[in-house]
Amino acid sequence: MATRLQTPVLTAEEAVARLRRAVHARAGDFYAMYSSLLGGIVTDPALMVVPLDDHMVHRGHAVFDTAMVVDGKLYQLDAHLERFWRSAQLARIPLPMPQAQLRQIIIDTAAASRQRQASVRYWLSVGPGGFGLGTGECVGSSFYVMIFRGQSYPERFYTEGMKVVTSRVPIKPPFFARVKSTNYLPNALVVLEAAERGADNGIFLDARGLVAESSNMNVAFVIRDGVLRHPAFDAILEGITVQRLLHLAPRLVQEGLLRGVEVGDISVEEGKAAAEMLLIGSSIKVAPVVEWDGQPIGDGKPGPVAHRLLELWHEDTLTAADQLIPVPYPED
Ligand SMILES: Cc1ncc(COP(=O)(O)O)c(C=O)c1O
Repeated sequence: MATRLQTPVLTAEEAVARLRRAVHARAGDFYAMYSSLLGGIVTDPALMVVPLDDHMVHRGHAVFDTAMVVDGKLYQLDAHLERFWRSAQLARIPLPMPQAQLRQIIIDTAAASRQRQASVRYWLSVGPGGFGLGTGECVGSSFYVMIFRGQSYPERFYTEGMKVVTSRVPIKPPFFARVKSTNYLPNALVVLEAAERGADNGIFLDARGLVAESSNMNVAFVIRDGVLRHPAFDAILEGITVQRLLHLAPRLVQEGLLRGVEVGDISVEEGKAAAEMLLIGSSIKVAPVVEWDGQPIGDGKPGPVAHRLLELWHEDTLTAADQLIPVPYPED
């Protein structure tokens, strides 16, 4: 007598029906996905899937980046793409199509989402082909794009300021910190650890014990002499947002709010004695930090530089024509 399995073996129709049933309430925030395996865009979240044999899934051999649609325009897409191509090269992932075509697919997927405010994340992987480590088995690089509602942080982060702790999670070694690969385990653990310790985020220190970066954002300081200082970029991810703000910050020197802008080492002692501490990135924008390891930063309140840099960021997303690509939304 044949034994009956306790787990159902599904037909293709049953599997698709179950994929539809597995769509959860949060998938309402997933607007459109492109997959090079489909060669097109889907808007049904049930179809926003990646095959398990893609080495991105089981080996983390993939890179990604995230840009934003702000007010119907892609902000700093080309700067994010430059970092994306660099990451792909460092991870030795061949491009499946010319750069211009991949860029156009991102723009088209943003348009198909019909969203005027959204996050735009895209991945390049060595692709599917089996469950080994070597890429020889891969049938070709894959490319995915997802347009989704960006993470919204609590308003109090900006009005009252954030609390951070020095993370006990080891930072990735410099080479891996500079490649934006899908290996974000340390970054995810920093966020978990911070929440467990009653903080809003964590600060990674580098191998020398100097300030490095935060979970998925950079960290800058207004040191006591009025200089905006950011760590060098040799052992951390080159944040696109902070680089843009370092470019715009000399305006705050003209306004008399800062005395200078510097990139260089920052010790924990210097950081804790700063007048202001700021977290900066595509998702957080610019948020003031008012407490680090239980100690107040400056007077323990959000400072004027954090406030002004956030204003500069907003202004830039609306007016910097060379940083903006209008999304060609379909008419109807
Ligand atoms: C580890 C890490 N550092 C810094 C950043 C900030 O970079 P960006 O301004 O490009 O979002 C990110 C986000 O991509 C990140 O993941």
